[in-house]
Amino acid sequence: MLGIIGGSGLTQLANLDVSHREVVRTPYGEPSGPLTFGRIGCQDVVFLARHGHGHTIPPHLVNYRANMHALDSVGASRVVSVASVGGIRGDLGPGVLVVPHQIIDYTWGREMTFQSGGDGPVVHVDFTEPYDEGVRQVLLDVARRVAETVLDGAIYATTQGPRLETAAEIDRMHRDGADIVGMTGMPEAGLARELDLPYAALCVVANWAAGRADSAHGIRFDELEAVLHEAMGRVRRIIEGLCEA
Ligand code: HPA
Repeated sequence: MLGIIGGSGLTQLANLDVSHREVVRTPYGEPSGPLTFGRIGCQDVVFLARHGHGHTIPPHLVNYRANMHALDSVGASRVVSVASVGGIRGDLGPGVLVVPHQIIDYTWGREMTFQSGGDGPVVHVDFTEPYDEGVRQVLLDVARRVAETVLDGAIYATTQGPRLETAAEIDRMHRDGADIVGMTGMPEAGLARELDLPYAALCVVANWAAGRADSAHGIRFDELEAVLHEAMGRVRRIIEGLCEA
């Protein structure tokens, strides 16, 4: 079964033929909302809106552990995360879709591991390649098949949020090598790895990051919404394609 986590702009999947919804409890509390089960084409899908159904949960308060545990426990065998980001690299402007290959984690204070100590030996998971290469390639192949342009590779800087960044913070992230910036990439990817759950992200660039291009003097939220709305149509086509693969 394919797990899909929808971020800002993707709180439901119109093309999902819903069979049922389920409130799943986990040892880590409740996920962001009920899981929605159904089919797209002949693929079984479980969908979860990361920020809750009405987009009420800010990035720093998402229960990432419950979300990933719930998807794993109901039998998701791979997870595609859809996330909106700001663009730092010159070719990653508003409306661009990109499948990142690396992460830099600037978040703090989040519950970011299933290891709480005391219950067995400490395990250090390998995280050299934070995304599953198989899931990344399927996303890229499907995008090609459905003729949607998706760029391959970006370094995703995950910030704490919920505020956006300062221009100087973005400059620092650029010097660190970051290409895109978002607020939810971690600990989600790390938790997927702890569960050995193949995971990759399809990122939608919603805006230029703070201080860049037409965000030189601030980020225009009205434009951001319109970009997301249009881009999520393309994301849905890719997800449909994924279900035909
Ligand atoms: N910064 C952080 N997160 C984001 C942005 C941004 O500019 N745009 C969309 N999510």
